[in-house]
Order: sequence, then structure tokens, then C-alpha cells
Amino acid sequence: MSNYTANESRYDAMPYRRCGKSGILLPEISLGLWHNFGHVDNYNIGKEILHTAFDYGITHFDLANNYGPPAGSAEENFGKILKESFSGYRDELIISTKAGWDMWPGPYGNFGSKKYLIASLDQSLHRIGLDYVDIFYHHRPDPNTPIEESMYALDLTVKQGKALYVGISSYSAEETLQASKILKNLGTPCLIHQPRYNMFDRWVENGLLNVIEKEGIGCIPFSPLAQGLLSTKYLKGVPASSRAGKATGFLQVEEVNTTVLNKVNKLNIIAKKRGQSLPQMAISWLLKDKRITTVLIGVSSKKQLLDNLGALNNKAFSPAELKSIENIIN
Ligand SMILES: NC(=O)c1ccc[n+]([C@@H]2O[C@H](COP(=O)([O-])OP(=O)(O)OC[C@H]3O[C@@H](n4cnc5c(N)ncnc54)[C@H](OP(=O)(O)O)[C@@H]3O)[C@@H](O)[C@H]2O)c1
Repeated sequence: MSNYTANESRYDAMPYRRCGKSGILLPEISLGLWHNFGHVDNYNIGKEILHTAFDYGITHFDLANNYGPPAGSAEENFGKILKESFSGYRDELIISTKAGWDMWPGPYGNFGSKKYLIASLDQSLHRIGLDYVDIFYHHRPDPNTPIEESMYALDLTVKQGKALYVGISSYSAEETLQASKILKNLGTPCLIHQPRYNMFDRWVENGLLNVIEKEGIGCIPFSPLAQGLLSTKYLKGVPASSRAGKATGFLQVEEVNTTVLNKVNKLNIIAKKRGQSLPQMAISWLLKDKRITTVLIGVSSKKQLLDNLGALNNKAFSPAELKSIENIIN
């Protein structure tokens, strides 16, 4: 058991934004457990990160069936920490999980069939030790399963009481519109869309953000720092302890290249002039758009988390700053 007691002033500083046209408010910064929470990682560091996050008003924690490694272990560790530290705070938390990527062998362990989605959520609930999650996502579009089947499955999880809300991830603008119409007809409107969005990957600006705004869906961009590229850590090589340096990290060393580092150097100069670290500027750059509900960060230490929370102290950009940034990242 943990003797954690949440900070009494945890709601004093964090701003919350409404998620689309729903009743849910989310903190401007949310925490994801893709990396750093698996059985390969240090459990106590993960626990310290979660305590600190909640102490600073982060009420939303994002998981998926396959987070680890090994797959499933982030949900197991989170479940353990939930029990040890947060059992008295369950109703103050928005916990999400997803299914869509490879989880178990055979034809029913990935993509978007009803068979897979329903079984996967049952497994996730078991690993986390919960009766329900707050948000259940379809993790990626499935080109071969009728979208109706995946959406019926999401709706069913809500009707079964295993999820309160549903979301989709990495669906294109067209797929999102289709999914949203089906879900509205079923009486389970899509709460939220989770796309990759950062200064180096801006595909969502090309239609998706307009669709989610019109449909009243919230938006939670993932990999806001391009997995850590939008920091100064790679300017002098690849540290062994970094995501690109670790064998279990998803960021490939080839992605740390001269073109990217040149941009990072230039962006860092602007960040400094704004009195921010580069990660802080990358996060506030996303929050400047009111269609963004919350920015979904990942951190490997408490120090990084505290740095990233500092983004909330300077979210305004002058037209000149935006233009300079545009010139670098375009
Ligand atoms: N829906 C999807 O398909 C999908 C896909 C990917 C992610 N996600 C979600 O989005 C969450 C965030 O994604 P992400 O982890 O890729 O986000 P990210 O914020 O782009 O990258 C996080 C990494 O950046 C580094 N970092 C963070 N803050 C830093 C700081 N202040 N200074 C220096 N380095 C810093 C750390 O890497 P080091 O390890 O090098 O320290 C950290 O692990 C995931 O946990 C997951 O919940 C969803």
C-alpha cells in the first residue's frame, strides 16, 4: 500500500477545456502511458510520475491494450498504482484504453472486428482492475472491417456499462465523419479523436480539425514532442537512456537526422526568446488552437513532467512568432 495523499491544491492552477460538445472537461495536459510504464521500466518512477501528475491537476490518464512492453503490462502496472494510491480518487479520474493494434495471435487479436474489440476491453478491465473505463477507443481504422461493425462494438461497450464514452484514433477526416454519423445514430456520440499532431506532423490541419469541430468531437493530440525530438536532448548525439537510444523505444535512430536537428536548433532559439523550453513551446503551440481539448504527453521522469507543465504559463503567440515558427517547420 502507498501512503500517497493527493495535494489539496491540485485543482487551483490547471485549466480544463470542454471535450467537444460533451459534459466532460479535460485538463489542458493529459498523461499517456505508452512508454515508461511497462514491466521493462522502473515501477517507482512511473508511480512518482502519476502522483505528481495528479497533484498538478492532470485528471486524465491514457492507456491501450498493447502498451508496455510487454503488451498489457502498462495496464497491469497502472492498475496496481491505481489500487495502491488512487483508490479513493477513482471518480476524479478519466481513464482511457484502446484496442486496434496487434494484441494476441490469430485473426481475432487486432484491427476492428466486434469479436476483437469486445474481448480486448474485457481483458483491459481485468488487467487494470476496473469495472469500467471512462473512454474506450478504436485505436486505428480497419480497412477491411465495415466501419459500422467497429462502431456497433464501441456502442455496445457503453450499453454494457464497460465504457462511459467512446473515441477513435488516427481516423482520417472522411472516416471520422462516417464514424461520427453512425455513433450519433446509435445514441453514443464520439467523445474524442486521438490523432498524432505536433510541429513536425500537421496532417490534422488538412480537414480533420474542421470535421471534429463541426461534429462536436474533442481532440487529444498524441506525441506532441514527436517522441522527444522536439527537445534539446538529441542535439549532441543520442543518449543511451533516451527513447531513440533504448532498445524498447519506438523512436528510430534514423529519425534523429540533420534536417530535424537543424529545425530543432532554430525552434529552440525562438523558445528561448519566449522564455520557454522547447518542449514547453511545442505544447503551447498545440494549445493555441481552441479545437484542441488537451495535449497528450508522455514523460520518462518527474522532471520532464514538471518542465512540460510549465507550458501552461505562456500559451500566447505573437503573429511574428507564429510566422517564424511556420518558416522553420514548413
Ligand atoms: N493513439 C495512438 O495511436 C498513439 C500513438 C502514440 C502515442 N499515443 C499516446 O500519446 C502519449 C504520448 O505520446 P509520446 O510519448 O510519443 O509523446 P511525446 O510527448 O511526443 O514524447 C514523449 C517523450 O519525449 C521525451 N520528453 C518528454 N518531455 C520532455 C522534456 N520536457 N524534455 C526532454 N524530453 C522530454 C521523453 O523521452 P525520453 O524517453 O527520451 O526521455 C518522453 O518519453 C502516449 O503515452 C500514448 O498515450 C497514442
